[in-house]
Amino acid sequence: MKSSLLLSVFLRQCAETRTNFRSFSSVVLKRQVPCSPGPRRMQPRFASGGCSALMFRRHGEPSQVVELETLELPSVGANDVLVRMLAAPINPADINMVQGTYAFLPELPAVGGNEGVAQVVEVGCQVTTLKPGDWVIPKDAGLGTWRTAAVVSENSLIQLPSDIPLLSAATLSVNPCTALRMLSDFQELQAGDTVIQNAANSGVGQAVIQIAAARGLTTINIVRDRPQFNQLSDRLKAMGASHVITEEALRLPPMQELFKTCPKPKLALNGVGGKSATELLRHLEHGGTMVTYGGMSKRPVTIPVGALIFKDVKVRGFWVTKWKANHAHDEKPFIDMLDELCTLIRQGKLTAPVCNQVELGDHRRALEAAMEPYASAKQILIL
Ligand SMILES: NC(=O)c1ccc[n+]([C@@H]2O[C@H](COP(=O)([O-])OP(=O)(O)OC[C@H]3O[C@@H](n4cnc5c(N)ncnc54)[C@H](OP(=O)(O)O)[C@@H]3O)[C@@H](O)[C@H]2O)c1
Repeated sequence: MKSSLLLSVFLRQCAETRTNFRSFSSVVLKRQVPCSPGPRRMQPRFASGGCSALMFRRHGEPSQVVELETLELPSVGANDVLVRMLAAPINPADINMVQGTYAFLPELPAVGGNEGVAQVVEVGCQVTTLKPGDWVIPKDAGLGTWRTAAVVSENSLIQLPSDIPLLSAATLSVNPCTALRMLSDFQELQAGDTVIQNAANSGVGQAVIQIAAARGLTTINIVRDRPQFNQLSDRLKAMGASHVITEEALRLPPMQELFKTCPKPKLALNGVGGKSATELLRHLEHGGTMVTYGGMSKRPVTIPVGALIFKDVKVRGFWVTKWKANHAHDEKPFIDMLDELCTLIRQGKLTAPVCNQVELGDHRRALEAAMEPYASAKQILIL
């Protein structure tokens, strides 16, 4: 690992070629000429010049290939910002990146993590939108957030209000954004309409439940059966879930009874694939839409021909990374979306996913826990 990082070049490259994602840990810094007066700063809590980071030098089993390492931080250029990472989740996409199976991969060696919240410690003299003390999140995936500090371009960050809970801020930019977009962009939904989803206890699923409830939508929430099903069902209902049903029960005739009490779903959200997705399609309203955003079962989606011919269902996909790239030229839709989500958070209508807070040094246990089935809790690194 080179000790210096080429952030300015990397971020410019990312802006020019939105598909060429590279972790900032894997590039070499071209130092920028400092301008006067000197950078504005607040007292950093980490040793000056260095940071700790969870890095992987090869793809493989996360608990085996991810190591805690010390990185030297580059100096803060005129358009750069030194941030102290506060908290960062371990998401399935992060795991897939370490395994080498995700849709885009950083150059190795790389720092893990794509999401998280940081606090600005120091800004370069040409930075205009951020100041020391501000909370920020990465605009895009690929930044490598499992670290205590970083020097990044002002343009790669977006400011977040610091009056929301830390764990909400750390988990805001991926799952709640995905949930909000899928509830907004694929079907016109009115209060009283129904949405059905699988992986309802996932981070995305919990955000779907809460945003849908705030909009007066009925949700049918499918989870895998487990010994503590009632406990999980109660927890999801306390968040606003209308119905919580196991995958097994979804296949049984009594499901039809449910549709005497609520309309058939216009929208199905699929984070699992395989048979689970086929079951969602079976219950979809004529002309409804199924949006696939995840494939946790690693099984393909099979669409019964009858669903296409007789029900004319629409089968779509969504990737929040692509949505952000498509809106990179105009930040307003992204900022508006974050504002809407922060308002829900302040109103107590959107909480962070159920999670375990872990220290960086406990990363091996946290990575293993993040891959456990039936865990129903997200691992969040407190940095
Ligand atoms: N397309 C996008 O823009 C986008 C954005 C965010 C997330 N995602 C994707 O959405 C999915 C969920 O992400 P997340 O952060 O919300 O996940 P998460 O909080 O880590 O939860 C994982 C979920 O997957 C379920 N699951 C795991 N293995 C399964 C299997 N073999 N069959 C059925 N369900 C299984 C878990 O259920 P159990 O409790 O039963 O284990 C749990 O509900 C991931 O695939 C992620 O990559 C996509």
